[in-house]
Amino acid sequence: MTRNAVSIIDYFSLETAFAAEFRRLLYNLQHAAKEKELKAVLITSSMLSEGKSTITSLLAVTAARKGLKTIIIDSDLRRPVIHKLFKMERQHGLHEILSEEVPAKSVIKKTSLANLDVITAGKISAHPAEVFNGPAIGRLVEEMKFYYDMIFIDSAPIIPVSDPLYVANEVDGVVLVIKAGETQREVVQRAVDILKSNGFGMLGVILNNMTGSLPYYYDYSYYGYHYDQKPPGLKRDKKEKKAADKSGKPPGNKDKDIDRDKIPSEEK
Ligand SMILES: Nc1ncnc2c1ncn2[C@@H]1O[C@H](COP(=O)(O)OP(=O)(O)OP(=O)(O)O)[C@@H](O)[C@H]1O
Ligand SMILES: [Mg+2]
Repeated sequence: MTRNAVSIIDYFSLETAFAAEFRRLLYNLQHAAKEKELKAVLITSSMLSEGKSTITSLLAVTAARKGLKTIIIDSDLRRPVIHKLFKMERQHGLHEILSEEVPAKSVIKKTSLANLDVITAGKISAHPAEVFNGPAIGRLVEEMKFYYDMIFIDSAPIIPVSDPLYVANEVDGVVLVIKAGETQREVVQRAVDILKSNGFGMLGVILNNMTGSLPYYYDYSYYGYHYDQKPPGLKRDKKEKKAADKSGKPPGNKDKDIDRDKIPSEEK
């Protein structure tokens, strides 16, 4: 697998139509939260690899270039990539703030943009629920609201794991990224239902057209991923399929980036 040597900031040129699209997107987001002030936004998706981390990064770069003091928090403690996109160390980040009570200020990393900082994931965790379950994540978001105009929080996908729900509780708005032309309607509906049934509304959805909108292609190496439950994209054996059909669970999306059969299920 290739690794890009350049930060996403340098790839994302101001002058392109693509950058203009992101400026529009940011504007729409800011105006989607009508009554309340929008500072902290959680970006999630139904399934793996729909473009959450890429879109989180590009929205944050767009906000910073617009003059807003912006921070990205990588809350995907299972498969973090924000540090790779910004060419920084993953170590010392969110995990340490939440579990070791390390002061946030001591792990915030600077980027080449004066207005843009990052809290990387820190230690990878197979059980992030334990890390998120507590008052620390809420305190962190509140603290960041004091120092920053915009906080973009990248997360794991919402159907396979429940970690994003802990974070959703602390933000002003949730955005659902959908891999255009790939993620099936029923899968998206299930993600929306999960959010709704937990009392979270959505600011909106972002359709990520992965066929040609990005002027580059980042190629990550994937780590093992642990799940609360088997995601609907997994190949099912006949017995499982029958049971799933009966229960009306949606069919999986056709995301081919990851060999899902190699993903271990979460040890309880
Ligand atoms: N608009 C796009 N055009 C082309 N490639 C894209 C686009 N958006 C994302 N990608 C590529 O798709 C892959 C997955 O993107 P990304 O890591 O942002 O998804 P993700 O939803 O964060 O994944 P995960 O569920 O693993 O956290 C990356 O290789 C990324 O470069
Ligand atoms: Mg990601």
